[in-house]
Parts: sequence; structure tokens; C-alpha cells
Amino acid sequence: MRVLVVGSGAREHALLLALAADPAVTALAAAPGNAGTAGLAEHPGLADPTSGPAVVDLARRWKADLVVVGPEAPLVAGVGDALREAGIPCFGPTAAAARIEGSKAFAKDVMAAAGVPTAASEVVDTPARLDAVLDEFGAPWVVKDDGLAAGKGVLVTTDRDDARAHACGLLEDGHPVLFESFLDGPEVSLFCCVDGTDVVPLLPAQDAKRLGDDDAGPNTGGMGAYAPLPWAPPSLVDDVVERIVRPVAAEMVRRGTPFSGLLYAGLALTASGPQVVEFNARFGDPETQAVLALMRSSLSSLLLATATGRLGSEPAPTWADGYAVTVVVAAEGYPGAVRTGEVITGSEAPGVLHAGTRRRDDGAVVSAGGRVLSVVGTGDTLAEARADAYARVGAVHLPAGHARTDIARAAVEGRIAVPG
Ligand code: GLY
Repeated sequence: MRVLVVGSGAREHALLLALAADPAVTALAAAPGNAGTAGLAEHPGLADPTSGPAVVDLARRWKADLVVVGPEAPLVAGVGDALREAGIPCFGPTAAAARIEGSKAFAKDVMAAAGVPTAASEVVDTPARLDAVLDEFGAPWVVKDDGLAAGKGVLVTTDRDDARAHACGLLEDGHPVLFESFLDGPEVSLFCCVDGTDVVPLLPAQDAKRLGDDDAGPNTGGMGAYAPLPWAPPSLVDDVVERIVRPVAAEMVRRGTPFSGLLYAGLALTASGPQVVEFNARFGDPETQAVLALMRSSLSSLLLATATGRLGSEPAPTWADGYAVTVVVAAEGYPGAVRTGEVITGSEAPGVLHAGTRRRDDGAVVSAGGRVLSVVGTGDTLAEARADAYARVGAVHLPAGHARTDIARAAVEGRIAVPG
């Protein structure tokens, strides 16, 4: 099978690594890819990954049997529709179905219709409503950009002035603001392959969204993750599939916009059960780097079965025993403006996945984005996987780069509990 992966992050690097290890895959391409994916996949070049016609043209020229769309922006822009119209199997939903990520208000509407538990919410599109809504919700305030913001549009704060200022900033930029009630409980990311009605869950993971240790600082796209979750109730995956993912998939079918691709349920495990924080329409980053490090069955078979509506007859994925931990190495300034062009050393070691990197003409690998590397360790225990990941982080060098030092630490120390 010839597989084309669209995207250029560490999530796409992880997808390519798993596909490269899959005997059913005969050729791989990454578009546009990054300095780390060049050794794994052809880089045929793609100027605009959000252009449906450009992706279709490339898929035809490269003779792709399957196109896997990594990031959300091409999906929301309709790349999945263009591939379907061209008769090319695509792992990734149509634009109409990707609205479950692209519009938080739409996702809330789907959840309400499907009877799925989630935080109470209200969308505000004028500053005149702000004070009344801030009073209504009370602290802690959860203030989100209603559109795509790569995780960085979310502010959770007990400071009313900060909440108001964040909301005003979003409104000034022309973005409606979603206020939500705060969900108290540990967060879980559960990725499910969905082909309309059939649902196949992957391993549950947890990501670290805040910039600093002990969840200090602003929200980011994600600074690390681990899988599976030693503290989670054994029934968690089945419960979430039955109570949340299947009803949402059925509601999408009922609306005439079936979801086909990766439905990412971001959950809080509250005292009253799992509640949805958000849905995404693609693999999560950096959780994918940990989850796929443990996959032992054929990823290409699972993705193609999803893309072609044959998930019901696909065997369940199999996993290595043990755990995986991924730690993101970010550039100075991330999640704000970053300095790029810094020379990175040690980035070709096993377990070092690339995100914002490029290879200079002189052969040096240099930084080219905010999240630069995603370093993955594995082990029989979560403590061993964590130690392995941090040993690998210690062997790479990005000038002024920074990484959290506490990824998976609370879980190793038994400090995560679902409220009773
Ligand atoms: N890990 C958060 C995300 O992928 O959106």
C-alpha cells in the first residue's frame, strides 16, 4: 500500500514511523514533512496542505492508495471532501464532519442532541454580553476561542480581569468566545477510529497542556503525554465508547454528515462520570507519539478500513505491554513568538520525533517552529518509560529550548485520582 501523510509535525512523524514498521506499506510520502521525516518517506513537495486540488493532484501523481490527513486545518478546509470526490481513500473527515472540532458551538449542539455529558456553555459574540456571562459562570472561568486555535485559544483562570481581557482580545480579532463551566477531574484523551457508525478505540492517553511544570503557565498545543493510564478505571474505554463516542457518531449520521476518521474525545473524569471537554477531528499531538509507539498491529490496515467503511470487519488493534511517554522540546518563547534557525544536535537519535525542524543547505538540522521535537521513551512500567524519555531528552540540544520536567510524574507517584 502506498500511503501519503499530509502534515509536518511530530504527530505525522509518529504516523510515518508506525506505517514504516508495517509490512503492508510499500511506499510512504510526507507532504510537506520535516527534517526528521525525510529519512522515512519521500517528500514530493506540497506548497499548500489546505488546498484540496493540490492534495488531490499530488495523491494522483504519487499514486497514493491512501491519504492520511494529520492536522485539522486541511480537514476543516475540505481536503477530505476533495479526495473523496476524486475517489481517493482518505483517512480524515469531510469539512462538514470536521466542524465537530472547527466550531465548539457546533460540537455542543451535537452533544446536546446526542445526550452526551459536557460542560455547560455559552457563546458570546459581542462585548456587551461579557459581564453578564462572567457573572453567570463564576470562577474558575474557562474562556475559549470558538474556532481553531491549536490549543492556545483556551484560558482557565480564577482572575476575572484576565478572563475578561482574554475574551475581549478574541472578540477584537473577530472570533466568537465560548464560556464553559469548569470540569473538575483528571483529563483523558481517547482516540477512536470511526467510519460512520463503527467505532474502534485506541489506548487512552493524557497530555500536559500547560507550558510549565505542575501545570503552571499558559495553555499550549501540548507539552507531553503518556499512555496508557495506570490510574484509569478498567471500564473507562468501554464506557466512553458507549456513552459518548457511539451516540455522537450516530448523531452525525442522523444529521447527514457522518464522521469518518479519527474522533478524539477530550474528557474530564468528574465525580459524575466522564464529561467531554472537546472533540477533535484528527489524531492528537503529542498523545499520538506515545500511543503509536505501543501499537503492534497494522496501522495502515486500520486507517484504510476506516477510510473505506470496513471498520466493522477489522480486527481490534493490538498493543505492546508497557507504557510510552513523550516530552516536547519547545523553542524559546513558545507558545508566543519564537526564534527559529537554531542548530539542533542529537535530533537523529531513535525516539526523537521532529515537529518544527528543517534541514539547512549545509546539512544542519535547525528549528523552524514552536514545538520543535517530541522525544518518546518506552518501558515496562510508566516510571521506566518516563526515565527513558528524559534520558533521550538529555541527549538532544536546542539552544534556549525548554521542556517540562514532570511529564507523567504525578501518575508515576500515584497522585492522580478520579473524584469519588
Ligand atoms: N493534545 C491536544 C491536541 O492535539 O489538540
